[in-house]
Amino acid sequence: MTAVAVIVAAGRGERFGNSGKVLAKLLHRPALAYSLDAFDQAESITDIIIVAGEHTETAIMHLISSGGGPSKVRKIVLGGETRQQSTANGVAAVPLMTDVILVHDAARPLIQPAQIDACVAAAREHGGAILAAPVTDTVKRVVDGGIAETIDRSTLWAAQTPQAFRTDLMREMVKVSESTTDPITDEASLAEALGYPVHIVPSDFTNLKITHPTDIVVAEALLRARKELSR
Ligand code: CTP
Ligand code: MG
Repeated sequence: MTAVAVIVAAGRGERFGNSGKVLAKLLHRPALAYSLDAFDQAESITDIIIVAGEHTETAIMHLISSGGGPSKVRKIVLGGETRQQSTANGVAAVPLMTDVILVHDAARPLIQPAQIDACVAAAREHGGAILAAPVTDTVKRVVDGGIAETIDRSTLWAAQTPQAFRTDLMREMVKVSESTTDPITDEASLAEALGYPVHIVPSDFTNLKITHPTDIVVAEALLRARKELSR
């Protein structure tokens, strides 16, 4: 049973204001290092492929080769202009005999090994599975600066990563993504377009995505709390 993680880290961090977002320091360690540790520790994961940007490739190679680095990283490939292109480049580098492929945002450093293993198990059972958190805010649809409607929150979930799929499904999804110009921000939307069921593995806000600089403050507070709890 093989499960390969594709960690996408080739973005430009425009909202963050720094193209090295995935290497931004969290308690003195680059954000990417935390995801790599989690995938290294997850029992279900056999290999890791990192999708780097031209602007971060050298720093990422240095991170991997520096002592005590993760042991499951097999390849570093270059990403593309969009997240979907970066995913496609990573998936193309996955060994043929792989059972499950997971895509994970390097910008989500607080992912935990048990969550990764749960996604792999659910993908094996259902074909596809993603981590997602129930929406806690009341959500409005806004048109021209005014509220058009309040959306029933009870059925709303915020999609996170990892997003795990059986390899045959993931390869088909990547093909679809290459033939569309629609903006696609996660793999699950491709599966939905193809009519594949996608199972939800419940998560919470702590698997946050570093998007804006203030997210670093929250991520560091969560990491500190985790360290305290594990003492
Ligand atoms: N990503 C990628 N290749 C791209 C775009 C995004 O590998 N062309 C990755 C990012 O590095 C990140 C993840 O996809 O780990 C989620 O993307 P996002 O949070 O949007 O990061 P950025 O695209 O870098 O940020 P922004 O949209 O603000 O520019
Ligand atoms: Mg982006």
